[in-house]
Amino acid sequence: MEIVETKVIPDEEVGLLQRNVEEVVEIHAWRSLRYVAITVVAVLIGTIFGCAVSLYLSGAYDFETFALEATVARPKHPLNFLAVGDWGREGTFNQTMVAKQMGRVGRQLRINFVVSVGDNFYQAGLKGPHDTKFKNSFSKVYTARSLQTQWFAVLGNHDYLGDTLLQIGDILTQKDSRWFCDRSYQIKYFLCGTSHIGYCSKFVELFFIDTTPFVNDYWSAAQQRTFDWRGIDLREEYLHEQLQNLNSTLESSKAIWKIVIGHHTIRSLGRHGDTQEMVKHVLPILEKQNVDVYLNGHDHCLQHIKREDSNVHFVTSGAGSKSFQGLHEGQPEDGLQFGYDGQGFVSVSMGAHDLRIDFHDALGQNLYQLDLHK
Ligand SMILES: *[C@@H]1O[C@H](CO)[C@@H](O)[C@H](O)[C@H]1NC(C)=O
Ligand SMILES: *[C@@H]1O[C@H](CO)[C@@H](O)[C@H](O)[C@H]1NC(C)=O
Repeated sequence: MEIVETKVIPDEEVGLLQRNVEEVVEIHAWRSLRYVAITVVAVLIGTIFGCAVSLYLSGAYDFETFALEATVARPKHPLNFLAVGDWGREGTFNQTMVAKQMGRVGRQLRINFVVSVGDNFYQAGLKGPHDTKFKNSFSKVYTARSLQTQWFAVLGNHDYLGDTLLQIGDILTQKDSRWFCDRSYQIKYFLCGTSHIGYCSKFVELFFIDTTPFVNDYWSAAQQRTFDWRGIDLREEYLHEQLQNLNSTLESSKAIWKIVIGHHTIRSLGRHGDTQEMVKHVLPILEKQNVDVYLNGHDHCLQHIKREDSNVHFVTSGAGSKSFQGLHEGQPEDGLQFGYDGQGFVSVSMGAHDLRIDFHDALGQNLYQLDLHK
């Protein structure tokens, strides 16, 4: 019986991301033209300025200094993306404010794609193909030019309260070509940079997993019927197969960096805290297979947790809209390196030897930065 949907995106689809490279080249060509234009203008202004100075030595006029913007530097890292979670509230609870900052950071980093860590549409996912929430919470909110790129999403528990097959199907992608969501899949991205010639052996793999079915509560007699469990009728088999798949694909992966992405927390000092089922079933695999970062949402905050008892860095980016729900201070052994319970998102910048994660708030402040090197 086919119950597990593990999809490796074929290369053509990852190739979609290449569009950005062309775009960057175009932007650079345009910028250098603009630079010539700016120089001409600057010379003219200089001449006029010089004449004006000699004419008005009496100081009757004040001359403004012109700060001419130099060309924007090429992003330092070959791969840049944003991650946001727990967002779809039709722009309310500062969702639009976060979106605007995502647009700004996305432009600066020339992002290759955006990751959504789930709880895409509140309160109860999408009702059906004509649910206006898709447009009002996604298409009409993330309007910045830099965000007009591929989105890679997973489902959160709130999405499971609506039509899950709709979110992971093609209908939404037809409405907005940025949209891609599935239960579990992986993408691979080469990290050699544009100056590299020849075969590139350095890459990162992102493993997206479906965490909602792990949570026992959602299967309780009281709750079970509110979730759309279509496609996961045999829960134990589904979970078993997903774990096996994750374990074996991680083990055979030759990626320099391995990042696992899911909705639920593993470690968290937010309102929901640790997800026990994830600690029990998923964490041992991440540890055994040397996963660098587990990236999640669910708790409506930003966090970096690194504990003594684990090599995995836990990053929560669940602050795409409603937040300010508090954070526990915890004990030293809880490993909270950074926590912010307001709105925001993270940006991830990667090269073959470094991985940098910046935590941004809704006002455009860079709150904290995690730097890893290999
Ligand atoms: C929106 O963001 C501002 C700045 O962080 C914050 O003061 C305000 O409480 C937020 N509003 C909501 C509804 O979360
Ligand atoms: C993962 O794979 C390794 C090696 O094949 C094996 O030893 C381990 O038991 C597996 N773990 C799980 C949870 O399947």
